[in-house]
Amino acid sequence: MAVNVVADKAKGEKSGEPGKDGEGKASQGGFSLERSAKLFERAKERIPGGVNSPVRACKSVGANPIFIASADGAYMFDEDEHQYIDYVGSWGPMILGHRHPSVLTAIEDAITRGTSYGAPSRLEVEMAETICQLVPSVEMVRMVNSGTEACMSAIRLARAFTKRELVIKFDGCYHGHADSFLVKAGSGLATLGLSEATSSPGVPTQFTGLTLSLPYNDVDALRQAFAQKSNEIACVIIEPVVGNSGVIVPTAEFLKCLTGLCKESGALLIFDEVMTGFRLALGGAQERFSVKPDLTCFGKVIGGGLPVGAYGGRKEIMCMVAPEGPVYQAGTLSGNPLAMAAGLAQLRYLRSGKVYETLGRITDELAEGLTALLKEKNVKGQVVHVPGMLSVFFTDKPVNNFDDALKCDTAFFGKVWRNLIEEGVYWPPSQFEAAFLSIMHSKADIKATIEAFAKAIDKAQAA
Ligand SMILES: Cc1ncc(COP(=O)(O)O)c(C=O)c1O
Repeated sequence: MAVNVVADKAKGEKSGEPGKDGEGKASQGGFSLERSAKLFERAKERIPGGVNSPVRACKSVGANPIFIASADGAYMFDEDEHQYIDYVGSWGPMILGHRHPSVLTAIEDAITRGTSYGAPSRLEVEMAETICQLVPSVEMVRMVNSGTEACMSAIRLARAFTKRELVIKFDGCYHGHADSFLVKAGSGLATLGLSEATSSPGVPTQFTGLTLSLPYNDVDALRQAFAQKSNEIACVIIEPVVGNSGVIVPTAEFLKCLTGLCKESGALLIFDEVMTGFRLALGGAQERFSVKPDLTCFGKVIGGGLPVGAYGGRKEIMCMVAPEGPVYQAGTLSGNPLAMAAGLAQLRYLRSGKVYETLGRITDELAEGLTALLKEKNVKGQVVHVPGMLSVFFTDKPVNNFDDALKCDTAFFGKVWRNLIEEGVYWPPSQFEAAFLSIMHSKADIKATIEAFAKAIDKAQAA
C-alpha cells in the first residue's frame, strides 16, 4: 500500500517514495515500521511503556508507537520515512502548522539571547498583556509550564478565594494529571480503560473525595449538586468544548445553567481552555459562547509548540497569588524566554490574519466529507466538529457526554486507525481524542484525508 498520498506536496526533506524497496521504506505491497519498532524496543527498556505520555503508545488502537523524525506544515515524517497528514498537531498547539516561519524566526532570535534566566524578562510582560487583550475575562495572568500546572494552580486559587474545598468537574473532561482531577478523567485514562471513579492508583481517596464529577450537558445533575452542596463548592472546572472524550459541544441551556448557578452560589467558574483557547476563536470558547469565566486555564497553544501553560482571570482573584498574595505557586522555568518568544509569535500571527476563517472552512469541509462518507459506506457514525477540532465517533447515537462516547465501537476505530496510517493519515490514536487541524491543511489534504478514510473503512469492513 502506498503511503505517501501527498508526496508531491512534501516540503520536508524526508518524503518517502511509495512502492520503492529501500531500507526502512514502504516496499511493494508492504508497510514497514521497522525503525519505529526498533526504537520502541529500546525505549521500553528505559522509559515506562516506551513513551513519555500514555496516549502515544497507540495501545488502544492495537498498534505500536510511530516514532516521528520531523514535521513540516501539515505533515509529519516518521523514522521509516513515511509521510503523514498530521491531525494530532502536538495535541492542539500547532494551529499554524509545524515549523511556521514566524515561530521559527522568533525562537532563533530569542535563542541568541540565552535560554533561561530565572529572572523576569520583557517577553513575559508582553505575553501577559497580549493574553489579557485577547481574552477580556483575563485581567491578570501567571505563566506556568503545562496545562496540568495551570489547572492544578487554578483550583488551589479558587479554594483559597472562596474558602471552600469542593471542586466540580465533568465526566470525560481532562484537566491534567494532578490528583484532584483523576476522577472520570477522559481521553488518556479512558483509552487505557481507566474511566472508573478514581482513575489512578496512588491518588488518595481524601483528594478525590473533594472532587465531584458530573455528567456533561446534564442540567438536572448540575442543579441537584448545587442544591445539595451550594455552600461547599469552591469552583466548577470545565472544558467549554470537550476534547478529551472526543469532541463534545455544550448545549446553550447547560452553559446558561452553569454560569447562573456559579454566580448565585459564589462558586468560581473555571474554563479550561487548554485545547480551545485561541483555537475556537481568538478569544477562545468563551468568546464563541459569550461566557465570562472567573478564571481561565491555558496550555500548549501559548507556547507555539514549546512547553507552556498559564492561568488567569479577575484581578481580585489573581491578586491572591504569591508574591502579591498568600497562595503559593512557583516555577523555575515559568515564562521561559524561548517559549514566550514562540508563543507570542504565534499569538501575533493569529491576531493578524484570516486564521479563523480558514480553520473554520477546512474543518467544515472535512466534517462534510466524512459525514457523507459514513452515510455512503453505511457506517454507524457521528462527525462532531468546531473550528479546528473534529471527532468521528463510531456510534449510531448522538454524543452529548462521556457515557455516549464510551458506547462507541472502539474495535472498529482501531481498525480504521491502523488503515489510515497505511494511507498516510496520522489520526489521533484513540476514539476519545479530538483531531486537530491547522491552517496548513490544504484543500488537497482534506480531499486526500477523505479518500484515505474511504479506503480505511472499506478495509475495516472487509476484515
Ligand atoms: C483540556 C486540557 N486541560 C489540561 C490538559 C493538561 O495539559 P498538559 O498535558 O500540558 O499538562 C490537557 C492536555 O491535553 C487538556 O486537554
